[in-house]
Amino acid sequence: LLIPVILAGGQGTRLWPMSRASRPKQFLPLTGQISLFQEALLRVAQDSRYDAPIVLTGEPYRFLVKEQAAVVNVQLRDILLEPSPRNTAAAIAAVCAALEEEGEKNALIHVLASDHQIEIGDDWNSAIDHATTAAKNGRLVTFGITPNEPVTGYGYIRAGKEKDGVAPVIRFIEKPDRETAEKMIAEGGHYWNSGMFLFAIQTFLKECTHLASELRIATRNAVKKSIRDLDFLRLDAESFATAENISVDYAIFEKTSKASVVPTAIRWSDLGSWEAVWKAEVPDENGNVIRGKATLSDTRNALAITDGPHVAINGLDDVAVIAAADAVFVGRLSQAQTMGSFVKHLRANP
Ligand code: GDD
Ligand code: MG
Repeated sequence: LLIPVILAGGQGTRLWPMSRASRPKQFLPLTGQISLFQEALLRVAQDSRYDAPIVLTGEPYRFLVKEQAAVVNVQLRDILLEPSPRNTAAAIAAVCAALEEEGEKNALIHVLASDHQIEIGDDWNSAIDHATTAAKNGRLVTFGITPNEPVTGYGYIRAGKEKDGVAPVIRFIEKPDRETAEKMIAEGGHYWNSGMFLFAIQTFLKECTHLASELRIATRNAVKKSIRDLDFLRLDAESFATAENISVDYAIFEKTSKASVVPTAIRWSDLGSWEAVWKAEVPDENGNVIRGKATLSDTRNALAITDGPHVAINGLDDVAVIAAADAVFVGRLSQAQTMGSFVKHLRANP
């Protein structure tokens, strides 16, 4: 039994002003008719290896999750609600504790993000099969994507010798600077950390007890004191708040000796920045990508997205103009990776 677990509690701040705390990027139709979250649901619903998915999200997004799942007609196994955002380690430890409580200790889970574009095909299918075999042998598996450029918005994995499609993880390098990223790609044997994981619940819980015992206790209590509210399992707020705010990469994967990576050369993207959104689309002959009412002249390599206001750009190169109904962002496309710190600055100076 392979249970898909979809992480949909992130706030997607780097796609401001379209992605807002009230409606983060995974729930927006960024590249097509449906949202990235809905794409993630359909991806698992159409694959017979999977059981029905569990969605982990924040309290404010519970109805978005329910409605968007209903629209694409995907039956969910459960929706776990995090009373406050505590990052991915707590979210994943909580879902494992909840499944343990349900007597599913022997199940395997595939943790998937809700903000990724993934090219589905033979390569992806065999990657899942390799990962499943390794997970049954007690490995905590992460998926590594062959990098084609030195993106600084991803974590990197240095892999050891590959055997049967699986390699031991030698080292994680989270969001390196450009120079380090270039070096790793030139050297070879390095992959983008896709942020997707596959493992046996038992293996994860054991490592969690061992490497992050307070996190384990906090999330187990959050499950034991949780409240069932129709379609939602509400984790206990008081216990959950005591869990450390840390990503699963830092809390578990960088520390465990059981990490393996399944390298794969699929086309994959975390639509985490405006530059990534621009790259995911086919541009016109000037390298421009336009969504909504926009007029461009003597302009190259621009991303113009508008929710209403007419956008006009004259004589610029390498620019993003994003116009929501109540806010407009203008910046260099090639500097889109710095958006995380820019939005912090914005919040501090409203
Ligand atoms: N349920 C829940 N709760 N989900 C969360 C939370 C939370 O508190 N925080 C983040 N998420 C979800 C996001 O919605 C996203 O689907 C996923 O977890 C990863 O979080 P991001 O915030 O998007 O992380 P990142 O993109 O900066 O970095 C991670 O992913 C990269 C690849 O996409 C790291 O794992 C990097 O190493 C990796 O390269
Ligand atoms: Mg992301």
